[in-house]
Amino acid sequence: MKYKTIFEPFKIKSVEPIRVTTEHQRERYLKRAHYNPFLLHSDDVLIDLLTDSGTSAMSAAQWSAMMSGDESYAGAKSWLRLEAEIHDLTGYPHILPTHQGRAAERILYGYLGGKGKIFISNTHFDTTRANIEFTDATAIDIPMPESSMVTFDQPFKGDMDTAKLESHIKTHGSQNIAAVILTVTNNSGGGQPVSMHNARMVSAICKKNKILFIIDCCRIAENSYFIRNREVGFKSKTYRKIAQEMFALADGCIMSAKKDALANIGGFLALRNHKLAQACTNLLIITEGFVTYGGLAGRDMDAIAIGLREVFDPDYLHYRIRSTAYLGEHLFSKGIPLIMPPGGHAIYIDAAKLYPQIPLHEYPGQALVCELYIKGGIRCVEIGSVMFGKYDKRGKLIPAPKELVRLAIPRRVYTQSHIDYVIEVFDEIIRTKQEVRGLRITHELEALRHFTAHFEKL
Ligand code: F0G
Repeated sequence: MKYKTIFEPFKIKSVEPIRVTTEHQRERYLKRAHYNPFLLHSDDVLIDLLTDSGTSAMSAAQWSAMMSGDESYAGAKSWLRLEAEIHDLTGYPHILPTHQGRAAERILYGYLGGKGKIFISNTHFDTTRANIEFTDATAIDIPMPESSMVTFDQPFKGDMDTAKLESHIKTHGSQNIAAVILTVTNNSGGGQPVSMHNARMVSAICKKNKILFIIDCCRIAENSYFIRNREVGFKSKTYRKIAQEMFALADGCIMSAKKDALANIGGFLALRNHKLAQACTNLLIITEGFVTYGGLAGRDMDAIAIGLREVFDPDYLHYRIRSTAYLGEHLFSKGIPLIMPPGGHAIYIDAAKLYPQIPLHEYPGQALVCELYIKGGIRCVEIGSVMFGKYDKRGKLIPAPKELVRLAIPRRVYTQSHIDYVIEVFDEIIRTKQEVRGLRITHELEALRHFTAHFEKL
């Protein structure tokens, strides 16, 4: 294009009002939610950056396809359309529909896991890790060393450390490694992309050692954008072709359709191996539903089938990645410490650096999450010691490797002025940063405690 302004490549046909609140009201709401934004009512939130999952605005084509949803229990036309679409995209012969990504994780990793088994990933997402650990297996993260640093010359900070992969295989024995999981983009590692070069190396190592290689592909279109624009040799390929090339390297994939399938619910597991697919199909039928719907309504399957095509549209992807970068670049220029360059779906702020006065056991990330809500009505999530912290035998916190706060951007939902508002709120965050104090957990559950924990201000 001749002009540099990148506008949202869509018109808005249906709107959802935002209820404007005051700081005073938000203080009350947050107290009522025990300082955990997961416990807020969405109506009390101005800009909801909690997640990009299931929050996409669907297109007119998706909404109209939903009306043709076939709700037959078995052999629905909606399923045949979805199956054909996933098959064409991934190339895998066995496709199992699930109600969302973690259901596919529970089926596959539940089957492969168990005591003594090891899973290795660039970074396991929290539900991935939880599903693995629930079987008493071990989940090991080996992101590349530069993953969390502000370095502009490293375009693929989501890559897996392949030297470490080989050394783990040697130490643990390939027979004990249940699977290697490449998460693209690497969500918990800053939403950073994974290069095709890295995927090829991981694939070769897995093949040589006869280890199952799975791609967690929920943001594969966004990852393909980075490959085409940053990695040598991909300029002439379409985003879809690049994704297909990556799928071809692996033995299967797990997808949460709530991200790059532009749908509000859904997921699937796709596999090459017939025997493994059979074992997983048994679990699918017991826990999700019959093989031609999994946990989904026919209309949802149609929305996913269309979303999986729309997401590879070059204008959409360019707008998507540039609008995330727009937020990141503005915050960076204000001096907010964040993972740079920005990833695909979210901005990750280093809260420990922003609030050096707050010790890790007082959760600097949660403090920033609370400040963003009170100052601006912005909801986001801590990805630090609240999410990943553990306790030692004496009950002392073993902190997470990083204290990040994620601002995730829903797809096709907010316009540039919403993002400009978020950027402006950060001026207030900077102005008041010395006054901010940490929090104490007063109630928590064992699994994924960040969802339900209660906090008290210190
Ligand atoms: N894998 C990755 C990389 C994810 O980001 C998610 C979900 C899942 C698996 C699980 O999928 O939610 O459909 O069960 N991520 C959401 C997030 C929740 O906010 O990042 P799900």
